[in-house]
Amino acid sequence: MSANLPAAVVVLAAGEGTRMKSKTPKVLHEIAGRSLVGHVVSAARELEPEHLVVVVGHAREQVRGHLEEHYAGTRTAVQEEQNGTGHAVRMALEELGAAPEGTVVVVCGDTPLLSGDTLRALADTHAADGNAVTVLSAEVPDSTGYGRIVRDAATGAVTEIVEHKDASDEQRAIREINSGVFAFDGKLLAEALGQVRTDNSQGEEYLTDVLSILREAGHRVGASVAADHREILGINNRVQLAEARGLLNQRLLERAMLAGVTVVDPASVFVDVTVTFEPDAVILPGTQLLGATHVAEDAVVGPNTRLKDTTVGAGARVDNTVADSATVGAGASVGPYAYLRPGTSLGAKAKAGTYVEMKNATIGEGTKVPHLSYVGDATIGEYTNIGAASVFVNYDGEAKHHTTIGSHCKTGSDNMFVAPVTIGDGAYTAAGSVITKDVPAGALAVARGQQRNIEGWVARKRPGSAAAQAAQAGSEGSAVES
Ligand code: UD1
Ligand code: CA
Repeated sequence: MSANLPAAVVVLAAGEGTRMKSKTPKVLHEIAGRSLVGHVVSAARELEPEHLVVVVGHAREQVRGHLEEHYAGTRTAVQEEQNGTGHAVRMALEELGAAPEGTVVVVCGDTPLLSGDTLRALADTHAADGNAVTVLSAEVPDSTGYGRIVRDAATGAVTEIVEHKDASDEQRAIREINSGVFAFDGKLLAEALGQVRTDNSQGEEYLTDVLSILREAGHRVGASVAADHREILGINNRVQLAEARGLLNQRLLERAMLAGVTVVDPASVFVDVTVTFEPDAVILPGTQLLGATHVAEDAVVGPNTRLKDTTVGAGARVDNTVADSATVGAGASVGPYAYLRPGTSLGAKAKAGTYVEMKNATIGEGTKVPHLSYVGDATIGEYTNIGAASVFVNYDGEAKHHTTIGSHCKTGSDNMFVAPVTIGDGAYTAAGSVITKDVPAGALAVARGQQRNIEGWVARKRPGSAAAQAAQAGSEGSAVES
């Protein structure tokens, strides 16, 4: 744990992000189940700052609403017009009232890969070196568009940050860039922001100018080079959005694999940041695990499966399945080709087999729904078997009704359970039954038309047809044999 808890973290999120070409503000675009600003706020929270302020401007009500819903306790400062990153930080300090005593960390809202560890390392270096400002820099293969870190040729000390648009050809060749993340002394930051001018190519107040202002006033300034430049990737367009998604996914899967999860093909598996695993879980190719999904030990998920907010119990098998807000018990079997909708709970060793859809259904331990069925609004006991091609008829056109089936029942194939209806423990139903009335425990329910065979009908009504000839040949053949 770091002893250098910052007084405040300021997240800059007022820009529109025009290069996204989107009706959604840039910082609300999502990767791995979290908005861009959400990733930054989550990393910032790891620093346990006294104050966490997000500067909002463009689409502020939408951004503020998002923060209130998902990141309660985050303060917002309004920047009416986007007059630059320095101006944005000034608005944040105004929101806080007095300039904060201690360290102020500034982060851009569009750098979702930045980790809490990196922010903490920056705050630690800043404190250890006794700097007035420490910038997080990175060596990148292509520095186009970024602010360049200019160092003194003789001493190697950082002298200034020059924006791409304001840089000379010589400065543009520099590959060490400003990540947009800084640690400042709060009081000195407030003073220096008052001196930032707008005589640059964009006519904006650049936060980056604070560094040279403080240095010229005789304060210590420093740069801390990020270990992995990919972490500071700023998202400006959808190509970078996809790139960040890929990098984050790789990071999440590596973490899972190092913790004991088998991921057969990491290139085709996608996980959200909120997904959790137990060691010896196995994830097969083409699988997406979203939201609060949890996969327990020895469970095998995939291939080609999408689980959202779903819990998979130990040793369960989930194959070619889509599930949302479902619970799969230990040792249960789902799919191939099953669809589990919200409110589905499969008990231990239960089965939802091929082409089975379930919704709002509680299936007891060892109960099987193996083939081609719809189970909606139902409670089924333990060790019951539901015959193939059965439908729980739960909707009368206006309201949904519930079906209850007991334990150790055997229902026939092609049954319709017209809800509300209850079938007692140990009962059987005949194939093809439409069950509209309750079935007592231990009874056999038969609810279908009686079969009637009309002898010789084909020969009389379809004389000379292929069917008639086949029937004729068949009866002669059987006559010869007998
Ligand atoms: C900024 C830095 C640049 C750095 C780069 C890293 C400055 C002047 N430039 O450039 O040195 O290499 O980030 O990604 O700081 N924002 C506001 N209000 C404003 C302007 C911006 O809140 O008035 C926010 C944006 O929403 C965004 C962040 O600040 O989250 C950065 O702004 P952006 O326009 O993307 O800056 P860059 O040109 O990328
Ligand atoms: Ca940017």
